Amino acid sequence: MRVGNPLLRSSAKSVPVEALSSDFLQYLIKQMIATMRKAKGVGLAANQIGSPLNVMVLECKKNPRYPTGYDFPLKVYLNLKILKLSRKKILGWEGCLSIPGYRGAVHRSESVLIKAQLPNGTWVQEKASGFEARVIQHEADHLSGKLYIDHLTLQKDWMHLDLFNQKFRKKIKDHAKNN
Ligand code: NI
Repeated sequence: MRVGNPLLRSSAKSVPVEALSSDFLQYLIKQMIATMRKAKGVGLAANQIGSPLNVMVLECKKNPRYPTGYDFPLKVYLNLKILKLSRKKILGWEGCLSIPGYRGAVHRSESVLIKAQLPNGTWVQEKASGFEARVIQHEADHLSGKLYIDHLTLQKDWMHLDLFNQKFRKKIKDHAKNN
């Protein structure tokens, strides 16, 4: 789903208990992981592929679109709630599979404490910091109908990927299909 689609502006619906062991949910999660990996993304929210459910996947493993040292393992979270955001915020560049070809600099809390359900139904509380915390905040935004561009305050903080690549001497490409 691309920016402009109303589903990206809708709040996600909770995944009900009875859906937890369903084939449908397993299929959705599989599709989300496959879509994220194919597009070389580091996170994906269910509404980005057309589902209104509160599901997100995250993973950063030797990703050509992000520098090394940012890696974190695959996570699948259902019904995620952010319990705490650190007061300390960091400015960092973000892209989005729903807004291919652009980058924006956004302030995000340096660390987060979250509560979420795993696909087996277990509730967990986890703390994340740095890049992983940024990705969680970006995906949590998606699930409440927000996009990173909503946080931009200065025009200079949003640019086409070609200019971003020039500015930072990078050769990053967004994979524009199937997301
Ligand atoms: Ni996004």
